[in-house]
Amino acid sequence: MFDISIYNENCISGARKHIKNSSVDLIITDPPYGIDANSFEKHYNRNGSNVNDGYVEIPAEEYVDFSQSWISEAERILRPGGSIYIVSGYTNLFHVLSALSRTSLRLVNHIVWKYNFGVYTTRKYVSSHYHILYLTKPGGKVTFNTYCRYGADEHDAQGGSLNYRDREDVWIINKEYKPNQKKNRNELPRELIVKMMQYSSNEGDLVCDMFLGGFSTAIVAIGLNRRITGFEISQKIYSMGIERLKDIKPGFLLDETRVPQPNTHIKRGKPWTEYEIRRVMERYSELRAEGRNKRQSIDTISMEFSRGYFSITNILKSYQKEKAQGGFLSEN
Ligand SMILES: C[S@@+](CC[C@H](N)C(=O)[O-])C[C@H]1O[C@@H](n2cnc3c(N)ncnc32)[C@H](O)[C@@H]1O
Repeated sequence: MFDISIYNENCISGARKHIKNSSVDLIITDPPYGIDANSFEKHYNRNGSNVNDGYVEIPAEEYVDFSQSWISEAERILRPGGSIYIVSGYTNLFHVLSALSRTSLRLVNHIVWKYNFGVYTTRKYVSSHYHILYLTKPGGKVTFNTYCRYGADEHDAQGGSLNYRDREDVWIINKEYKPNQKKNRNELPRELIVKMMQYSSNEGDLVCDMFLGGFSTAIVAIGLNRRITGFEISQKIYSMGIERLKDIKPGFLLDETRVPQPNTHIKRGKPWTEYEIRRVMERYSELRAEGRNKRQSIDTISMEFSRGYFSITNILKSYQKEKAQGGFLSEN
């Protein structure tokens, strides 16, 4: 499978021309941050000579309109149930959030990506994170592959759930260190893109990056057997990206990704203790109070208690019945 439609165009007019309504399963994108090039190099502590030139920045005074325009195109091309991840610095984050608030897109998680090589400062805190906004488009089935990287029963030496940890909303992922190699400005690490793509898409899905830069999203999409479409406005950066794609083999990342252990639910079949039932009920109430829906709450409990989904559903049902009849598990 090798299906790419990548354009050397402005993503706003380009999307209108080339991409149909509701046709994209997943958007992963990293728009220009609206800060001037010199301060960017200084701020992000870069050796300018190793950074590809040709990068097109958006003047600060145009950032509001620019954000509104590309985000409304993103909303249009995303299928109902499709997901979008937007990487953003903090300078113009509020404009991105404000533009998003004028769409139907639903903010699901605000992820903090903590990276290495933060901005060295002496009289303030060191800046070493970006924001990643994860949203979905209402009206269709959302792809979220809960166990694509770690099974429900996989634990570290201290007994902590690896699946739970991988799905926390602070991601510690290092930027790639490429000494003396040419890089695009703000090139995202492959590991970061792989993670978003594994959770929110499947093989054969169509992924779009509105701002391709160093083509990192395109490379990962091809490597994971997804279809890719996207835009890069700069002729110079686009040509370098196309050059990078020449050596990329479809599916090359599939062998490198971790295979999760199947969920066996180690306690399956074992009788429930009264204490365990009570803890499940408490946890269920907590999760619902935090705003999780029934399905999400049961998934979480399933992982935390190493029990199957239906086993928990049955316990909840019998608890509700007992409670209605004033039985042994009612509050006292
Ligand atoms: C932050 S970079 C993307 C970096 C990319 N994620 C990577 O990993 O290399 C943003 C890119 O958007 C491009 N760009 C700026 N305005 C654009 C527009 N209107 N349409 C398409 N690309 C644009 C810039 O030239 C730059 O290469």
